[in-house]
Amino acid sequence: MKIFKTIAELRTHLSQFTSPAFVPTMGNLHAGHLALVRQAKPLGDVLVTSIFVNRLQFLPHEDFDTYPRTWDADCKALQDAGCDVLFAPSEKELYPEPQTFKVHPPAEISDILEGQFRPGFFVGVSTVVMKLFACVQPRVAVFGQKDYQQLMVLRRMVQQFALPIEVLGGITLRAADGLALSSRNNYLTPDERREAVHLSKTLQGMAQELRSGATDLAALQQHAMATLTQRGWQPDYLVVRRRTDLQVPALHEVTALAHSKGLVALGAARLGSTRLIDNLEVE
Ligand code: PAF
Repeated sequence: MKIFKTIAELRTHLSQFTSPAFVPTMGNLHAGHLALVRQAKPLGDVLVTSIFVNRLQFLPHEDFDTYPRTWDADCKALQDAGCDVLFAPSEKELYPEPQTFKVHPPAEISDILEGQFRPGFFVGVSTVVMKLFACVQPRVAVFGQKDYQQLMVLRRMVQQFALPIEVLGGITLRAADGLALSSRNNYLTPDERREAVHLSKTLQGMAQELRSGATDLAALQQHAMATLTQRGWQPDYLVVRRRTDLQVPALHEVTALAHSKGLVALGAARLGSTRLIDNLEVE
């Protein structure tokens, strides 16, 4: 595996390839990231991963400084997973001057859900991904479905800017108890780790209710919020949305959408000081 820390060196090396496949990450890699690498590997003539903890997508009070940086383990894991090229720019390399040109996704998809609780998050994500795309010039890029809204925002960005890149989603890997793999799981205490599965359990409960014919989404969501709150969580949201645009489905369409793979349950909640997100497509 070749490692490049500058855009110039990366570009020179990649000029011999025609169809890079790309998996952008913020490092602290777990099996979920490596599954994305394996998924992307056969889709291009070179597999590129990036590791860059992007300050632009963190709010001032969030965990930018403490976000786990596990360089040696990440390199080994990527090498073992078949990564050909690792692009790991410093902040000075990617943002040599303040990044004043930014990508602003439309409010209706970026100010809701994650965007409501993390204002500016999708501006930060879209901007860095646009820049990483400019550096790598991939033919295909793979993002985890655990960040469901992020995947949707990036798909739309690529479509509206007519970028010649295919954006694919990778399935969410889960621990044996059902907890979605996430770098932030590392922050959980042993007690919190045991409790953490209840986020996905609550989403499963919501999906089950919808499959059984529930149509009162407000009641479903309130019940889910109350369940997690009683267990000691501080939920930001637990909602059912249309898969296509993450908007609230109209009452008359809930049943049809529930039976035509049209709905997704999404949740974000804090357990102690750790904020976890997850989602479940209603099948
Ligand atoms: O999902 C992530 O790890 C990040 O948001 C991404 C896409 C690498 C952009 O920094």
